[in-house]
Amino acid sequence: MLNELLNPALFRHDTTFDDLYPEHIQEMSQMHWTPVGIAKKAGDFLAIPHARVLDIGSGVGKFCITAGFFHPETTFCGIEQREELYTFAEITKAEMELPNVRFIHGNLTELEFKDYDHFYFYNSFYENIEPDSRIDYSIRTSFELYDRYSRFVYQMLEEKPPETRLVTFHAPDAQIPPGYQLVNNSYNRVLKMWIKQ
Ligand SMILES: C[S@@+](CC[C@H](N)C(=O)[O-])C[C@H]1O[C@@H](n2cnc3c(N)ncnc32)[C@H](O)[C@@H]1O
Repeated sequence: MLNELLNPALFRHDTTFDDLYPEHIQEMSQMHWTPVGIAKKAGDFLAIPHARVLDIGSGVGKFCITAGFFHPETTFCGIEQREELYTFAEITKAEMELPNVRFIHGNLTELEFKDYDHFYFYNSFYENIEPDSRIDYSIRTSFELYDRYSRFVYQMLEEKPPETRLVTFHAPDAQIPPGYQLVNNSYNRVLKMWIKQ
């Protein structure tokens, strides 16, 4: 059953949803946060009942909150390295009372990936190689970190069992191990859905 405290209209337009956040976070939305329509579509694909889905680099929580609202039987977790973004995700989640949504503050390299079944990835490391896409200056960025994080996620995905689902948004295919089969490709080929064989 959908959360009765919430109006589904909140998830119809990005501007309505983004109003939940302070202005400087709203201004970053177009470039850095998943649009609600994409989050809903990605969530529909990843929401296997009772599974745990991880958003790798969850920002202010837009993907997890949207997907979690429409799929109360699936747990959506996000890990975010920036404390400020993590805090806004937690505040918004608390306002909405979504018990199936969780956020962790930390670096994804510290995470136990065996605790998660399926994954969402919005090209989270790009700011390490493209200075114009920097979110802020609260963390260090470098080419070396881009490689390190990309290799980490690649290896983690490689170790996952068959039937593992993955959605990538604006992410290069080179970051996906060959065992993952592309099963859907939309929004001008920037939204991709994969299943491990
Ligand atoms: C493009 S944003 C996407 C945010 C969110 N997934 C969404 O779709 O709205 C990528 C986020 O990943 C975070 N991130 C990048 N590298 C990370 C790492 N190594 N550990 C945790 N978070 C990371 C960034 O701080 C940023 O907030």
